[in-house]
Amino acid sequence: MKITNICCIGAGYVGGPTMAVIAQKCPHIKVTVVDLNTDRIEKWNDENVDNIPVYEPGLGEIVKHSRGKNLFFSTEVDKAIDEAQLIFISVNTPTKTYGSGKGMAADLKYIELCARQIARVSKDDKIVVEKSTLPVRTAEAIKNILDHTGNGVQFQILSNPEFLAEGTAVEDLLAPDRVLIGGDTTPEGQKAIQALVDVYANWVPKDRILTTNVWSSELSKLTANAFLAQRVSSINAMSELCEKTGADVTEVARAIGMDSRIGSKFLKSSVGFGGSCFQKDILNLVYISKSFGLHEVADYWEQVIIMNDHQKRRFSKKIVSTLYNTVADKKITFLGWAFKKDTNDTRESAAIYVADDLINEQANIAVFDPKVAYNQVIADLNYLESRAPHKNEALVKSFSDPYEACKDSHAIAILTEWDEFKDYDWKKIYDNMLKPAFVFDGRNLLDREKLTSIGFHYQAIGS
Ligand code: NAD
Ligand code: UDX
Repeated sequence: MKITNICCIGAGYVGGPTMAVIAQKCPHIKVTVVDLNTDRIEKWNDENVDNIPVYEPGLGEIVKHSRGKNLFFSTEVDKAIDEAQLIFISVNTPTKTYGSGKGMAADLKYIELCARQIARVSKDDKIVVEKSTLPVRTAEAIKNILDHTGNGVQFQILSNPEFLAEGTAVEDLLAPDRVLIGGDTTPEGQKAIQALVDVYANWVPKDRILTTNVWSSELSKLTANAFLAQRVSSINAMSELCEKTGADVTEVARAIGMDSRIGSKFLKSSVGFGGSCFQKDILNLVYISKSFGLHEVADYWEQVIIMNDHQKRRFSKKIVSTLYNTVADKKITFLGWAFKKDTNDTRESAAIYVADDLINEQANIAVFDPKVAYNQVIADLNYLESRAPHKNEALVKSFSDPYEACKDSHAIAILTEWDEFKDYDWKKIYDNMLKPAFVFDGRNLLDREKLTSIGFHYQAIGS
């Protein structure tokens, strides 16, 4: 089957960029991205591409290239489903906040709603593609819903997990390490796989398109994220030992990274990993393992999360103890709120948890992030439900100018590794701070020698 019409349900951090790249690389395919969130769709359609809801370097240009030609953003979900031959499901799959599996299992209610909607609307055969990250064997549930509530039409379910990382989404999509497609081993399943392979083959070399059975594909995505997060927790565990022993975690990381069996990537020690994926996907893996009675497997992976929670808490404790065991009424400036640089996404950002700890100690927090606005900072803190919203608003302020954010503060904490922080006039910042002036570098971003020679008390992670 030659695909000429694609629908993607979910216009978020994955659906938006992924479909924009497919549209650019496949001018013969009409791509419609739909979402229930009208505000989000309006922003995707904003004439000024600086206002699209997902900040990713290079994304604005790609959207501009195809929008209105073969790339459309719409809230008309039924229409887009009806017209498409191939439907990507790219909705959110957060950790459950209620009921059984609360705090661990993936919440699949949005996935199920999509499946039911596809079943209700479809009048001809469709290929349904799981783009969202899902627990292994979810395709079975989707198939059941489609087969039992459909209009007698045939559905093929494929798993095509997305491996892009935020902040580098466009380059990851244009030149992926691999594209993974899982499908049924039946002839119909293989035909569906081929149809999706043909879409990617418009720009991805064939030897980078991997096909597997559905379960391997679903499980590979959780496995990849668990392995990546585990590297960060491993190096973070070493960072604490480095601080006690005089070793320097950056030197240790370089030394082990040059071993070709280990490799150099994902060994940056930090205040802890954040983002919408790692924690949720590992918790999901832990939950699945437990549900099969594999308690040792579950405990092994859970430790990655425990280590990460410890790393975040350790950072806030270090700030309090260094500031003479009290931060009450002191101004602490956060440079960065996003969970990593080059994104406006703040989900599970370490900054949220560090701020929450310091607010418990009655600190005043001043936030500057080049891409995150005040209402997002407050929404993130309110989501934790640690205290009444008005208390968060009273103790947390944000600034549009970094120098204003740092003025009269007792300490600066670097929470995100935005490049621009390196180029600030640190002498000017120092002159306008209270003394002694402290910098807690949660990303090992700044130059220790330069800062100490200005007069800062500088503390990094793992040295
Ligand atoms: P997101 O929250 O940014 O976007 C999901 C969108 O789906 C939202 O805009 C929401 O309104 C919409 N939606 C939910 N239910 C809907 C429905 N029934 N009909 C129409 N729209 C609906 O999420 P995201 O970050 O894009 O992640 C999507 C999936 O991709 C998740 O499963 C995630 O694990 C996976 N993933 C994310 C990343 C990442 O870096 N963010 C990377 C790889 C995989
Ligand atoms: C991750 C996976 O990398 C990606 O393949 C998957 O599709 C989605 O989840 P993402 O969460 O966007 O992507 O960002 P990633 O670059 O993996 O960073 C996750 C967190 O780990 C960030 O908070 C980052 O700052 C932190 N990190 C990463 C470190 O602390 N040290 C490192 O060496 C690498």
